[in-house]
Amino acid sequence: MKKLQLLGNITPAQFLRDYWHKKPLLIRGAIPGFKPLLKFERLADLATKNFVESRLVTQIDGEWNMQHGPLTELPPRTQPNWTMLVQGVNLYDEKADDLLRQFRFLPDARLDDLMISYATDGAGVGPHFDSYDVFLLQAHGKRRWKISAQEDLSLVEGLPLKILSNFTPEEEFVLEPGDMLYLPPHYAHDGIAEGECMTYSIGFRSPSFQELGEAFLQFMADSIDLPGRYADPDIQPAKNPAEIPREMLATITEELNKVRWDEEDVTIFFGEYMSEPKHNVFFTGPSKPLTVGRFMESAAKKGLKLSAKTLMLYRGKHVFINGESFAVSRADKVVLDVLANERRLDGAALEQASDDVLEALYTWYQDGWIELG
Ligand code: SIN
Ligand code: CO
Repeated sequence: MKKLQLLGNITPAQFLRDYWHKKPLLIRGAIPGFKPLLKFERLADLATKNFVESRLVTQIDGEWNMQHGPLTELPPRTQPNWTMLVQGVNLYDEKADDLLRQFRFLPDARLDDLMISYATDGAGVGPHFDSYDVFLLQAHGKRRWKISAQEDLSLVEGLPLKILSNFTPEEEFVLEPGDMLYLPPHYAHDGIAEGECMTYSIGFRSPSFQELGEAFLQFMADSIDLPGRYADPDIQPAKNPAEIPREMLATITEELNKVRWDEEDVTIFFGEYMSEPKHNVFFTGPSKPLTVGRFMESAAKKGLKLSAKTLMLYRGKHVFINGESFAVSRADKVVLDVLANERRLDGAALEQASDDVLEALYTWYQDGWIELG
């Protein structure tokens, strides 16, 4: 694999071997000459939307405050010590989506979103740690990062946000536009704006096993098949009527032990789960959709691309898109794997597509999951 400037001129393999989950990496000039992708006004406008997750963090006389969006009013930009954080900007801005996709040396099932924070002078969200890996790309202005490998991750109680009780910085750097800092999970950090600044966080997903377990059992509830009903033709008279008979429990245990799953069940569950859009993501199809015929003509000319909101994954013959799964033939798999990996499909590639795939593509177009061009 190629060396990437984004990773400080090492290959993704070197980065993953030496830093990922292990230690921080400061990359000066990760994206040389980087300019913010969105103006402050655009970001502030996104924060007013009820379908966008946003927060406002202020520190007034040393007291932390946090307000969840939608944010209809912001303090003046001349006022120090406040931060607006906007999650999932990649869903609403193509350039932000492109930036996130530069991190596809990690699988899509791990990539989460691009969060943008805007901070006035002196602002930060306090010393804390995150449970996920993060790349912090400085987009505008300067931010001083203090970081620490400390093991004491105890938090101040009773605050509206996570603040470490005993933060002991070990290193510090001032990041300028285009510089980037990678931090592994649970690495203590505190970033303070030096003048007005914007920081982009490339965030990752790592579902907890508890969350997966609960969701998996729900998935299994829809697919188990246990015919029959409890019966006891040989039952004896009850001595203690309130006591559950041992034989009764034995029968129930035997039946419930018939609930089984294999790797295929786990694959389908996990693919559907990881491709499910977040609860606040809504798709809007074209207001005047083309007819099937027109759509096919246009797709053959211009090609197709996935909407920035669409999550598409696959494993073996199973293809997952926005929480739905399909088992596909070998020929269809070739076409759909390209669409998933490239997030677009050339017009020419459509010639290989079966009628089933073409029909699915048209439905996805009507639903706003894919777009022409
Ligand atoms: C920020 O951008 O203000 C905070 C990001 C972080 O510390 O994770
Ligand atoms: Co953090």
